[in-house]
Amino acid sequence: MNSKIQESMNNIKKSEGEPGKRTCNKLFLASWLFILVALSSGCRSIWQKPDMVIEKLQIAKLSRVADLGAGRGYFTFRIAEALGPEGLIYPVEITPGQISRLNRRADRLGRKNVLPVLATTTDASLPEKMDLIFLCNTYHHIDNVTTYFSNLKKYLKSNGRIAIIELDDLPWYLFTLHSHQTSAETIKKEMHQAGYILIEEHNNLPVQNFLIFGLP
Ligand SMILES: C[S@@+](CC[C@H](N)C(=O)[O-])C[C@H]1O[C@@H](n2cnc3c(N)ncnc32)[C@H](O)[C@@H]1O
Repeated sequence: MNSKIQESMNNIKKSEGEPGKRTCNKLFLASWLFILVALSSGCRSIWQKPDMVIEKLQIAKLSRVADLGAGRGYFTFRIAEALGPEGLIYPVEITPGQISRLNRRADRLGRKNVLPVLATTTDASLPEKMDLIFLCNTYHHIDNVTTYFSNLKKYLKSNGRIAIIELDDLPWYLFTLHSHQTSAETIKKEMHQAGYILIEEHNNLPVQNFLIFGLP
């Protein structure tokens, strides 16, 4: 077990009979459980604020958008709706299983503007240049970030943007998420090294960074 959690458990045992500390520990455990539940899929819109995110992205109707590391398409299908029938969204995934799921969901919803793309870990394999490449909770999955994003420029129009949403550095008690987060400073530094400039930084998401980059 994580040593800090173990330490906290020990403190709870030690504090038996000390009402102040007991209340404090219960509050600590309750808030920890609350955060874990809230981060799971059921309550996602509370903290993910997808409508706000899409509003800030200001996607023009005819845009070409890639959802890099789309997963089950949490944002893909919302962006598809915002685009309307004339824009296209390419949910990009490296696992064939996710591609099949995305295809089935697009068929079920009759979304003809959702075109899943099977990529590799080193190349997004997009069929054309994008107005927007969007990543939500995918940044930490990318190996050799600087090289990857440097190569990604070939899929970006000259005025195209890359929007990155990523869990920020969180308090230590979210120990399970530590490998899934990247600080805004690290993202900015790595994107700068890959040849991008920061265009926008939004601070409306409670636990994630929301940064938009473009080409110089
Ligand atoms: C944590 S999930 C996020 C899914 C979705 N964006 C969301 O917010 O619900 C990260 C996804 O990125 C995919 N992924 C990892 N590395 C990738 C890469 N190099 N290119 C494309 N997708 C990748 C994984 O297969 C996984 O489905």
